[in-house]
This record gives sequence, structure tokens and C-alpha cells, in this order.
Amino acid sequence: MGAGPLRTAGAGTLRPEHAGAEVRLAGWVKARRDHGGVIFLDLRDASGVVQVVVDPAAAPEAAGVAREVRDEYCMALAGTVRLRPAGIVNPELPTGEVEVAAVEIRVLSPSDPLPFQIDDRAEIDEVRRLAYRYLDLRRPRMAANLRARSKGIAAMRRTLDRMGFLEVETPTLIRSTPEGARDMLVPSRLRPGTFYALPQSPQLFKQLLMVGGVERYFQVARCYRDEDFRSDRQLEFTQLDIEGSFWGQDDVLATLEEVMVEVVSALDGTPPARPFPRLAYSEAMARFGTDKPDLRFGMEIVELGTVFASSRFQAFRTTLESGGLVAGIDAGPLGLSRSGLEALAERARALGGKGLVTAIVEEGGTLRSTLAKHLDEAEAAALVAAFGAVPGDTLLLAAGEPRETRVLLGRLRLELGQPKGHRQLRFLWVVDFPVFEITPEGGLAPAHHPFTSPVDVREMEEHPERAVARAYDLVLNGSELGSGSVRIHDPALQRRVFSVLGISDEEAERRFGWFLRALRFGTPPHAGFAVGIDRLFSVLLDEPNIREVIPFPKTQTGLDPMTESPTPVVAEQLRELGIDLRPEARAAMEGEGEAPPG
Ligand code: AMO
Repeated sequence: MGAGPLRTAGAGTLRPEHAGAEVRLAGWVKARRDHGGVIFLDLRDASGVVQVVVDPAAAPEAAGVAREVRDEYCMALAGTVRLRPAGIVNPELPTGEVEVAAVEIRVLSPSDPLPFQIDDRAEIDEVRRLAYRYLDLRRPRMAANLRARSKGIAAMRRTLDRMGFLEVETPTLIRSTPEGARDMLVPSRLRPGTFYALPQSPQLFKQLLMVGGVERYFQVARCYRDEDFRSDRQLEFTQLDIEGSFWGQDDVLATLEEVMVEVVSALDGTPPARPFPRLAYSEAMARFGTDKPDLRFGMEIVELGTVFASSRFQAFRTTLESGGLVAGIDAGPLGLSRSGLEALAERARALGGKGLVTAIVEEGGTLRSTLAKHLDEAEAAALVAAFGAVPGDTLLLAAGEPRETRVLLGRLRLELGQPKGHRQLRFLWVVDFPVFEITPEGGLAPAHHPFTSPVDVREMEEHPERAVARAYDLVLNGSELGSGSVRIHDPALQRRVFSVLGISDEEAERRFGWFLRALRFGTPPHAGFAVGIDRLFSVLLDEPNIREVIPFPKTQTGLDPMTESPTPVVAEQLRELGIDLRPEARAAMEGEGEAPPG
């Protein structure tokens, strides 16, 4: 093709105004149509797709090459842009009004037959997609996701740089940071028997940066948590991590709002109005049965204590008398048959509820329900009025321990009302989280992390179960995007929090002495936040799973089918690290059939 650049234009950038231009293109063969005469190639590069026409009469040599190429061959060509004849314009392609008449074609790199079609329409088994992720990334949807993620992260950096933040890298071979998950450990060769932990977050290091006088820190930080997989979790994930000195909650929230507006704008979305609404944790639980309410729809939980306080319906009355909660949601015109309603009650039981009473509001305000015979007219009317229900609505009522009842109704609310896609964005701050949560064993654990400042220290010590923290979450469409808090900057208070958690001074000294020491050197008041970047983009890009916005994710069971990690290691490596495998681990490893150690 002679001297000069391999490429002078992007395939996807060609438009009618380029007609007559001589171009060089390079990319991949998306499709080839050869009807014995003229050969059509769809050429794809990072900018898009254009149709290439090779006419054997005009360019016999190029036609010879074009006949040989197969899907996903990497190729270069030279040719002239021309308008497509009327009638074969493709309105679905941005380049659909033009084509390139090739005079020269060169194969840069052939491709093996493909394991799957490089096509958004094809449903491909996920393990196969991940085993050939590099091919999967050529699919338009994945390529678009990578581009959007890059643009969004660039917007974060731009915004924070403008606001005077410093991007600082913190180490990833560290001593454990408690964020509530299991640590991923890395054995030390130089000190056999000792281990680094990979950071669950940069939490303590960013606090040390505040001690170090940085004042405004951010990092696009890789974090590692050995926890069970869900559609919104990975073993390693990325946070936008932020911290500021002389800051309180309002400063954090305002900064994050600015960042979110810029990111949504960078992705061509409609920027959310500021300030984002705020809900106290207790109100979120009461009205939505969750600490991450989806505000795109109503169906709020309505408390029915006054309606049933002296009811003849014994199950509800006794629940109320013993301090329980009777509440419900108006699920709207569900139009379910009797078996449909039974299935709903069954679903409520599967979610851990003791029972669900359904009631359909009829014309005239009467109720079709097992409850109906226990209610007089005034009670039925009060029930309908409590919901503001209209004829045709289905009311779902539950009774029991208050929190469990709210959580059950919250789950049903989501299942019945949550919109499927994320075209509309509803950001929300949930503030005033509790300091502690009760563990299944009845003990106390930090609801956020133990470096979070309580609002009232005395209450934290006297009534830890109801103490409120200066902690807040950012929620988008029912997903927890991120969390943060005002931190403890006083070592004495930090010890008191540890003490309520049952961590003795000796244990605190052993585990966190290095950190507590730093707090003694003039630590400024500080606060911060971390956004889960993968979660943010999966919602913004309307992807059901964070794996779709991560270039090389692991499967649901923590495997990388492409590199086949994790893998066994050779005996020599283990010996250097001073590690002996227990027999069951050795057997499992030998079962993997790879490099069994001697
Ligand atoms: P937290 O533990 O709430 O807070 O984490 C912040 C956000 O990180 C994301 N996230 C995850 N994303 C994918 N996979 C995971 N396994 C995973 N775990 C967490 C979530 C979550 O909201 N140091 C504190 C922040 C602070 O106080 O500044 C922290 O890490 O979106």
C-alpha cells in the first residue's frame, strides 16, 4: 500500500461530506458478502463500521484478497469514499449513506474461526465470553461500556482536580483494614509466616493523608474483598475514594453531587437536580423497608397501627399489643387471580414473612379479602383511606416484628414496582445511619466502619443499639453507590468506640496501635466517602451486572476462565514462602491437574 500511515480516517467517522476523499482505513472484518461479483466488507474499528465495496473489474488484486478474508481478520485498505446509490442507504448505520470503494486491501493479521459471533444480538454463555474476553470486548455494547467508563472516570478526575483535590496512590500491600469483609492475603517471602493484606479500601491510609496535611485527597482505588459474589459484587473492584480535612457531612455531599452531575453529563445523560434529596436512615426504613430506597416509584409502606388497634382481627391486634407492627403497601391495580394472590403470599413466606393478607378494593370501597369479615364498614374505610387507595388496587398487609415486617414489605415493593431499566436516575442521600448493627450472634458490629464518628458519645456508650453516626450513603435507583462518614480524629474517642465494640485497649494497640499513634499528632477533623465505580457505571449504563462494565471480571465463583486463575503454584514457590498445604488443600489442588508440588 506504499509509504504513509496505515490509517487516515476512522471507519465510523465517514459521512456524505467526505465523498470523493481518498482514505486509508484499518480495522476488523465484521462481515463479508460475496455474491460472486462485487464483494462487500463491513469494516469495524474503534470508531464504528463502514461498508467497503471491492469491484473485481476495477481492482482485481484487492478483490482476490477480499475473497480470502474471513470474519475478524485484521486488515488495512485504501480507497475512495462515495455516496451509496439511493435505495441502499442504511439508516441504522451512522455511516449508512456512504461506502468506500477499495483499490487496495492488505491482511494485517488473520483470525482463527471464532468461538462466538461478535454481535450484540447473540446470547453467549458467560464463561465462554470471559474465556475470550478480548473478543467479547470487540462487541459494540462492551466497547461502548469501556468508552463510557473511561469518559466518566475522566470527568471525576477533571472535577476533583478543578476543586483542588490531590490524586494520591496508597499502597496495596498493607496491613488489614477492617471493612467487614474477609481479607485477601499475600504471603511475604522475605518474612516467612507473615502476610500482607490487600486493601478492602484505602480507609486508614486516606485518614493518614489528612494527618499528613493533604487536606483534599482522591484516588481511583482498586479494592479487594473476599466476600460472596452477587451481581453487584466482585472480589476486586474500584472505588472513587475521597477525603477532606476541616470538612463535615455537607462538604462531602456537595462535592459528591458535583462529581455525579459531571459524570452523568459526560455520559450524555440528563444531569440530576441538586441538592439530591436526603432521607434519614430511620425514615428510609419506615417508608421503604430498606436503607437504599428506589425513589422512582411510590408504593410506600403505610403503618396501620391506628386502623387495627382495637380490631376484631385478632392476629393484627395481638401483634400490635405485643409491640409489633402492622403495615402494608398499596400495590396498585395488580389484577391478580386468586391463585396469583396465593403465589404472592407464598412469595412473602419465602422472603421470611409469617403471612401476607391481601385485600382488593372494590367499587364502593368494600374489600375482597379474608380480612373483610373481621372489619366493620368504618374500619374498612379507614384502611382504604390510610393508603389513599382506589377501586381495583391490591393492598398487601403484613404483621410482625417491626424491622422484619418493614424489610418484607420493602422487598415486595421492589418486586412489584421496581422499573426494569435505569433510564430515569433518582439519586438520594441516606443520612444518620446507626453507629452499630446487631450481629446474628447478638453482638455489636460497626454499621459502617469503626472509624466513624458517633453524633452523641454518651448515647453511644449508654444505648449503643440506637446511637446515630455521622454516616451517609449515596443511593441511585435502589443501589447503594457509596458510603462515607465524618471520622473520629480524637484517639481517646477512637478507643471508646473500640471499647463499646468489645475491643480491649491491648487488642486495639496490637491491631491499630500504628494508626492510633498517628491520631495523636494534631489530626484535623476530617470526613470522606467512597463511590463504587463499577456499581455506578452499571446503573448509568443500564447493565444488570457489574461484570458488564469491568474489562476483565471474574465469574460468579471467582474464576477467570481466560487465564484460568486462581491456579496451583509450584512446590518451590510454596517452600520459599514457608507455606505447607494441608492435605485437603493439596488434594484439591492436585485435582486441578496442574503443577502439583513435590
Ligand atoms: P464501603 O465498604 O461502603 O465503604 O464501600 C464503598 C462502596 O464500594 C462499593 N463496593 C463494592 N463494589 C463491588 N464489589 C464489591 N465487593 C464491593 N464492596 C463495596 C459499593 C460501596 O458502596 N472506606 C469506606 C468508605 C468511606 O468511609 O470513605 C468504604 O469502603 O458501591
